[in-house]
Amino acid sequence: MDTMTHDKAYLTPKIALYQPDIPQNTASIIRTCSCFGAQLEIIEPCGFLFTDKRFKRVAMDYLEKDKIKFYKSADEFFKNKEKQRVILITTKAIKTYTEFVFKITDTLLFGRESAGVPNKVHNKVDEKLKIPMKENKRSLNLAISAGIVLAEQIRQIKN
Ligand SMILES: C[S@@+](CC[C@H](N)C(=O)[O-])C[C@H]1O[C@@H](n2cnc3c(N)ncnc32)[C@H](O)[C@@H]1O
Repeated sequence: MDTMTHDKAYLTPKIALYQPDIPQNTASIIRTCSCFGAQLEIIEPCGFLFTDKRFKRVAMDYLEKDKIKFYKSADEFFKNKEKQRVILITTKAIKTYTEFVFKITDTLLFGRESAGVPNKVHNKVDEKLKIPMKENKRSLNLAISAGIVLAEQIRQIKN
């Protein structure tokens, strides 16, 4: 069976956002998840409202809020992930995302636009991966980085 159309959330690629604060980024990731058949998870608090005009403009009709999984805290998120790997995508990693063998059950965790993730989250993840950049560049846009790594996970899973 094609994993992209499998209806069990466990067997669907998963992107988790840690306390996202820019509405257009989350909206863009919602669209990416919808197009790739990935599950979106959000660790609250979220820095904007889903009624925000800037959010709606980018999310368009791709938003299916009941399909997004919300966690009240990082603790609740990790409790739910005890049997699955959480892969933190961070500029602070040593390993590059293309060097890693992904599983369909992995959750790709991305940091907040303004501050990434706190140390307590860094300490709980199973693996940390970076997207290599030119020297002296700070970071990619959150939605762009999510698209890059999700595409690689899906490419590996389909092969
Ligand atoms: C705008 S960046 C946040 C920058 C923040 N100052 C930090 O230290 O993480 C938002 C998120 O995008 C992801 N990201 C952006 N560029 C990345 C890169 N080159 N490698 C890995 N993750 C990246 C990370 O998940 C990051 O937390």
